[in-house]
Amino acid sequence: MVFDSCASGKANFSSTPICDTLANDNKSPPLRMTMPPDHERHIRSFVRRQGKITVGQRKARLDLAAKWVLSKPGSPIDFEALFGNRNPVVLEIGFGMGETTATIAQKNLLWNFLGIEVYPAGIGALLQRIETLGLRNIRIIEDDAVSILRHAITPLALHAAHIFFPDPWPKKRHHKRRIIQAEFVSLLTSRIAPEGYLHCATDWPEYADQMLQVLSAEPWLRNHSPAGGFAERPDWRPQTKFESRGMRLGHPIADLCFRKHSSPPSPTAK
Ligand SMILES: C[S@@+](CC[C@H](N)C(=O)[O-])C[C@H]1O[C@@H](n2cnc3c(N)ncnc32)[C@H](O)[C@@H]1O
Repeated sequence: MVFDSCASGKANFSSTPICDTLANDNKSPPLRMTMPPDHERHIRSFVRRQGKITVGQRKARLDLAAKWVLSKPGSPIDFEALFGNRNPVVLEIGFGMGETTATIAQKNLLWNFLGIEVYPAGIGALLQRIETLGLRNIRIIEDDAVSILRHAITPLALHAAHIFFPDPWPKKRHHKRRIIQAEFVSLLTSRIAPEGYLHCATDWPEYADQMLQVLSAEPWLRNHSPAGGFAERPDWRPQTKFESRGMRLGHPIADLCFRKHSSPPSPTAK
């Protein structure tokens, strides 16, 4: 099971077999809710790139979005109604083309996966994979993950969060656009249940150092790596598209695995 397989402290969840919920598809509420306008301004960690979208990806968006994409998610998302079960929910921010998301979801059918992305071709690609692989444990939101975390995901609702190869924004003047910042990590951590985890990875060494610093400074998180630094890529995490590109360019890969404390950190704790 994803990160928990290599963890010492396992969290217990009541897991309804996903097959019990398949027949429920028709009974699930329509994937549409209303989202309060996001009046809070924040720096976007992405640019909305249209990119090249294939005919198949466009068709998948047209034909399959109603089934798997939440349009305008409301506050808060009822995960039990959305997935038709009470299985733990793993959030993935910025899934790109979704190949990693689909592979992990296929191997962990008793877990639910919520992917947030703003890239239309990537959303089409993940929809195609969902359909081809017959997956029922993935839902997609096409929006800014920061707004969704603020308005649509309640505290402690997530079991885990994956952020694999977030945009590195290499120019110094753009560093403020990096998603891994103290305020964002605090928000994200507040949505994760006790003993849940946050897994990040990057191929950009200077961003990796920033991530390590920010995650280590978050009082609710503890580094799962015994040495307190970076972790090896765990077996369950497939190589992503951006990771492959980084490796071709000779970039070193850094994984960061942090777990959420189960009780409030003491004031003196890091
Ligand atoms: C560098 S790509 C990595 C994609 C994929 N995880 C991989 O490793 O191949 C980062 C992705 O994050 C998405 N992204 C960045 N900020 C986001 C945000 N705030 N909400 C949703 N998606 C975001 C971008 O659209 C982009 O597709």
